[in-house]
Amino acid sequence: VNATPVTVVTGGAGFIGTNLVRRLHSEGRRVVVLDKVFSIDVRPSADGVIRVPCDLAEEAGVERGLAAALAIGPIDDVWHLAANSDVRAGTYDPELDLRNTFMTTFELLRGLRRHGIRRLRFTSSSAIYGDLAGIPVSETAGPLLPISNYGAMKLASEAQCSAAAQDYLERVDLLRLPNVVGMPATHGVILDLVDKLLTTPGRLEVLGDGSQRKPYLHVDDLISAMFAIRDHPAEGRVQAFNIGPDDNGVTVKWIAQRVVARIQPGARIVFGAGGRGWLGDVPQYAYSTQRLRLLGWLPELDSAHAVELAIDEIARQRSSAFQ
Ligand SMILES: NC(=O)c1ccc[n+]([C@@H]2O[C@H](COP(=O)([O-])OP(=O)(O)OC[C@H]3O[C@@H](n4cnc5c(N)ncnc54)[C@H](O)[C@@H]3O)[C@@H](O)[C@H]2O)c1
Repeated sequence: VNATPVTVVTGGAGFIGTNLVRRLHSEGRRVVVLDKVFSIDVRPSADGVIRVPCDLAEEAGVERGLAAALAIGPIDDVWHLAANSDVRAGTYDPELDLRNTFMTTFELLRGLRRHGIRRLRFTSSSAIYGDLAGIPVSETAGPLLPISNYGAMKLASEAQCSAAAQDYLERVDLLRLPNVVGMPATHGVILDLVDKLLTTPGRLEVLGDGSQRKPYLHVDDLISAMFAIRDHPAEGRVQAFNIGPDDNGVTVKWIAQRVVARIQPGARIVFGAGGRGWLGDVPQYAYSTQRLRLLGWLPELDSAHAVELAIDEIARQRSSAFQ
């Protein structure tokens, strides 16, 4: 065992994880990725990143993953991203969120305790705030009443992390993410719209009336924010941060128009009814990111530019998949 510390990333084979792992690796860190599936085409360990397939909702899976990392070196940092990220799917099958969002957190925390690992950064979500009708929320807002199973299991996970910080963890960062866009997309409104237009050319069906307005952050800016939080000395054992751009976001209607303009100019956009994409969809939210701004972080792209760039990236991602 080499004494150089190891950084563990759970869910590191997913959209945000792939980007986080690349940036950690380029900082010179030794990274071990624990994930259930490695479906995104990330080159196998030629790049020095170790990938361990394991189901983190199970004690045995967590144990296998942590043991593989500890065999390489002491673990000094853990980023917990593994979760069900498909909010809509979790509405129809709550067990998806129970297992992949909550139980992964619960079992991972037990694993950290067993091995005396004391730092955790958890990717939570704006979904914990529920439907606050667009009133900007700060980290101390409450009561927190999520409207999706996903939001409920993220909030329960935060609570479990907070309890662990009273005991065996010395520092937990609760990172409350907005909608994040970029490559390699695995889910989300842009990928949905691009795929629909490629499947039924000439016509783009939008869930809801398109009036849903949300902030979007590009994944490159997200990772910079996550690092700014990591590199800031903690003020307590548990700290929560809203992460997001400093604007009111863009509407789904605008995104649909940009997707059509980029992929198939002239295609007809057909809107559904109601201001919600689906049950559990928060139609509008706004964040106060004041706490994060005090650390000196600013995004390079606002919501509109982040979405424009991501549409272009996802269009290229899809067209190379079709070759
Ligand atoms: N993308 C967003 O807009 C967004 C917004 C808010 C919060 N988040 C959170 O950020 C994190 C990363 O999201 P993402 O967009 O990269 O999602 P993603 O679906 O691309 O990645 C999640 C990864 O977790 C893995 N995973 C799920 N269940 C697992 C299990 N039981 N054991 C091991 N691995 C498991 C999946 O295989 C996947 O690779 C998630 O916690 C998500 O809830 C994302």
